[in-house]
Amino acid sequence: MKNRIKALVALVLISSLQLKADEGMWMPLLLKKYNYEKMKAMGLKLTPEQLYDVNNSSLKDAIVWFNGGCTGEIISDQGLVLTNHHCGYDAIASLSTPQDNILDNGFWAKSFAEERPKPGMWVSIVQRMDDVTDKVMSQLQGVAEKDRPAKLQAIYKQLTDEAVKGTHYEAQVREMFKGNAYYLFVFEKFTDIRLVGTPPQSIGKFGGDPDNWVWPRHTGDFSMFRIYAGKDGKPAKYSADNVPYKPKHSLPVSIKGIKDGDYAMVYGFPGRTNRYEFSNGIQLAQDKVNPTIVALRDIRLKAWKEVMDKSEADRLLLSGTYASIANYWKYFIGQTEQLKRLKVYEGKVADEKKFTDWAKGKGEFETVLPNVQKAYDAYIPFALQRTYLSEGLFGIGISGIAFSMYGYETAKDTASANKVIAMANQNIDAFYEEFFAAADEKIMRQILLMYYNNIPKEQQAPYMATILKKGKTPEEAINKFAAEVYAKSLFANKEKFKAFLAKPNAKSIAKDPAYAMVKSFYENYLNNYKPKVDEFNAAVAKEGRAYVKGLMEMNPTKTFYPDANSSLRLTYGSVQGYEPKDAVKYDYITTLDGVVEKHNPKDFEFNAPQRLLDLYNAKNFGQYALPNGKLPVAFITNNDITGGNSGSPVINGEGQLIGLAFDGNWEAMSGDIVFDEKYKRTINVDIRYVLFLIDKYGQAENIINEMKIVR
Ligand code: ARG
Repeated sequence: MKNRIKALVALVLISSLQLKADEGMWMPLLLKKYNYEKMKAMGLKLTPEQLYDVNNSSLKDAIVWFNGGCTGEIISDQGLVLTNHHCGYDAIASLSTPQDNILDNGFWAKSFAEERPKPGMWVSIVQRMDDVTDKVMSQLQGVAEKDRPAKLQAIYKQLTDEAVKGTHYEAQVREMFKGNAYYLFVFEKFTDIRLVGTPPQSIGKFGGDPDNWVWPRHTGDFSMFRIYAGKDGKPAKYSADNVPYKPKHSLPVSIKGIKDGDYAMVYGFPGRTNRYEFSNGIQLAQDKVNPTIVALRDIRLKAWKEVMDKSEADRLLLSGTYASIANYWKYFIGQTEQLKRLKVYEGKVADEKKFTDWAKGKGEFETVLPNVQKAYDAYIPFALQRTYLSEGLFGIGISGIAFSMYGYETAKDTASANKVIAMANQNIDAFYEEFFAAADEKIMRQILLMYYNNIPKEQQAPYMATILKKGKTPEEAINKFAAEVYAKSLFANKEKFKAFLAKPNAKSIAKDPAYAMVKSFYENYLNNYKPKVDEFNAAVAKEGRAYVKGLMEMNPTKTFYPDANSSLRLTYGSVQGYEPKDAVKYDYITTLDGVVEKHNPKDFEFNAPQRLLDLYNAKNFGQYALPNGKLPVAFITNNDITGGNSGSPVINGEGQLIGLAFDGNWEAMSGDIVFDEKYKRTINVDIRYVLFLIDKYGQAENIINEMKIVR
């Protein structure tokens, strides 16, 4: 009887575990304590030590932090790294020339000697992570809130110095739970990284901006690099004598295939989430900040698109930056739409109501939400100042160039003035590389007019008055001013600026119209608004810390996970389709048939290469086809990821690679603030598509032969 009850309880427990949401970006060293039983019940076959171990090799040794913004995974014992195409994009583009256009044509190294070194790139591998909360907290006793950031920096320095002393490692301390916990991470960083392979961007970026953030997807979003080390196996500067890195672990690759409901986990470096955001922050984002970012980026994107549509060379030149502006332009449109649709604000208000009830009479917590309200009340009237500075003023190309002389015009001595000139001389080509005066003039006109219309008059930069004097209406005045800038400013063309740098003088800078504008806008922010922004941020950080602490006390049996902060995390769940809206069902997998359906030779974003179409027509899919003969392209899982997870391995219950995470889906674009169980999905490229492209499309058998393929 007793045993039967036990069995029953176990059954209920396991099934409830299986049904629960798969929300959470968990810290690997805590998986054993908090998540392991649930992961096992869902289909994990590995031990906790196989996921994360400090003394023996484990999955973590195959996960690399890729160039600071992405994740990659090691898939051979020769240091072969797989990541997304959009993570390798800048490297691939900068290794391309019109004569040797690997961005458009693709590239497959047929031997180590053909690989292309890319100076400046790096990857880091986590050696260990430690809870240093007590060490940090004990030194924060009695430190005033305003001194806290500086004190933290000093503590971090001491802890990281201590951690890497006598080694070639690097270390970082990361704040967790908004400052309620601290963890130390020790890394080994490699800087000799070489490009091994990439499909053409018509595959690696197939679907471009229209398909970005959207399922169903048909993008072969991967590229491959190799880590090189010195002969001793340790990190070394680039040298032709360096050798492929021998990793402690590399991921086997499974082409056995996946089905709905299969266990799947994603291991990587998620960048930033804000899951403990206050309702005030959500309201401000959806009503004001997000729409402003979108409108300001709209202006830039339209002006650039005109340039790109007119010339193939200019399209190649601008496409990298254009894609990154467009990526978050679309992100903020989606976030706003989904915050509203999923009533995220209302949900937060309800959570906060519960917190308020609980916090009554608890001194430390009782004041949290009222203080947050006060901080927002004070901040909201000028909340757009920062957005207009970064996305507005500095969205105008000439502003950035003119601002490079700020240090010169305001220099206190010749030495520092000379330094600024030397810097400008060094960077002048980069300044003008993506500068198109006519497009920039259009951008300036529209951004200044938007600023004039939307920023309260008493908050506007003093130089606005000078601009407005130039015409009868604000629009006419702004247009005249803009025309004058691009006709007269010494920053409006590279030759003029170069001539100036050869014989610099502060006077001509001070009277330059572009410079006068940027200086006035910048100083208006610096002197009048930055102090308030800092004060607001400090207040919200302090209350956020107390809020998370309170939530933990209020829910003592719940396991919390910290917001993403570019530190190593693991999220687990399963392969799963979804229903985006009434009567519509999305399958969990796409195939090459969809590429052919979307193919359009007149649209560069959907123009699949002929060679791929030929392989499709010949049905030459080899061992990579589905049982129904189709070739898989992408699939979705319900894993909890965000930007920074790009390139992360999707791993099955046996620890084998089944895909690479590369995007989120439209219906859950509010995911960085709230994880929505019903809609949140991770979009992955299927490893079988990756192998097909290397093998059949690229004919790089040498690369395939390096991997350990499980059939
Ligand atoms: N949305 C993807 C991410 O943020 C990037 C996709 C890049 N592709 C593009 N069309 N911009 O990870």
